[in-house]
Amino acid sequence: MVNFVCICFQLVYLLLVLAFFSHITWAVKGNSLCKQTGMGEIRPHSVTITEFGAVGDGVTLNTKAFQNAIFYLNSFTDKGGAKLFVPAGRWLTGSFDLISHLTLWLDKDAVILGSMNSDDWPVVDPLPSYGRGRELPGGRHRSLIYGRNLTDVIITGDNGTIDGQGSVWWNWFRSKTLNYTRPHLVELMNSTGVVISNLTFLNSPFWTIHPVYCRTIKSKSTLFF
Ligand SMILES: *[C@@H]1O[C@H](CO)[C@@H](O)[C@H](O)[C@H]1NC(C)=O
Ligand SMILES: *[C@@H]1O[C@H](CO)[C@@H](O)[C@H](O)[C@H]1NC(C)=O
Ligand SMILES: *[C@@H]1O[C@H](CO)[C@@H](O)[C@H](O)[C@H]1NC(C)=O
Ligand SMILES: *[C@@H]1O[C@H](CO)[C@@H](O)[C@H](O)[C@H]1NC(C)=O
Ligand SMILES: *[C@@H]1O[C@H](CO)[C@@H](O)[C@H](O)[C@H]1NC(C)=O
Repeated sequence: MVNFVCICFQLVYLLLVLAFFSHITWAVKGNSLCKQTGMGEIRPHSVTITEFGAVGDGVTLNTKAFQNAIFYLNSFTDKGGAKLFVPAGRWLTGSFDLISHLTLWLDKDAVILGSMNSDDWPVVDPLPSYGRGRELPGGRHRSLIYGRNLTDVIITGDNGTIDGQGSVWWNWFRSKTLNYTRPHLVELMNSTGVVISNLTFLNSPFWTIHPVYCRTIKSKSTLFF
């Protein structure tokens, strides 16, 4: 396990760290060295994922609930933003998109579980800079939590967990039955003001957090396995 006091890093550094360490355990412990910007810390509006029909039984697929909640919260982006609260439970979901001025908050014992059905991870174009999927030609599966052209996004909570249930993907990879490049857990393209803290990331199908063309990524008290 690698322990950092605090990291407030830039894109290139984060990519390197995750490329080398994505298959070992590492922890990021935050303290006052890392000054919080205060940006978006207090959101005037908050909803709970259960208000959108989500069921935290580890079995019900909640992709629609996440998508609908975030679609609803889109109307608050120019009013200081909003918080999506995920209470304790096991919330199975496919890929969903974040929006600007959003806080995704995972309470204690809240676990967001990635679906084990590859259809719940839609295929998107390869990154322009690669020109092809990293593992296979053509598209790639979109990350579980995805964002593009965003600003002021906070993914945090009271030590909740984001678990990609990646073993199915590792098996597809080994048995060469993948049709497209594997997804990441979190990917934020062309985004600024992203803070990821106080969470545990487990079992990513591929790399854990993948910021592409981003500035001001901060990460505190976050464990990656
Ligand atoms: C990045 O996002 C900004 C708006 O947030 C947009 O104007 C710009 O075209 C985007 N660039 C790319 C490469 O997506
Ligand atoms: C992001 O910005 C690029 C370039 O302006 C645009 O082509 C793309 O559709 C935008 N994507 C989203 C999801 O806003
Ligand atoms: C982070 O999680 C811990 C453990 O659950 C909690 O005690 C602490 O208040 C959280 N910190 C922040 C900044 O939310
Ligand atoms: C946070 O959760 C991880 C496992 O998910 C655990 O190892 C760690 O001790 C927890 N931290 C706190 C402060 O509760
Ligand atoms: C790949 O495509 C085949 C044929 O459509 C399908 O049966 C299989 O489930 C796909 N594999 C994955 C990992 O999605």
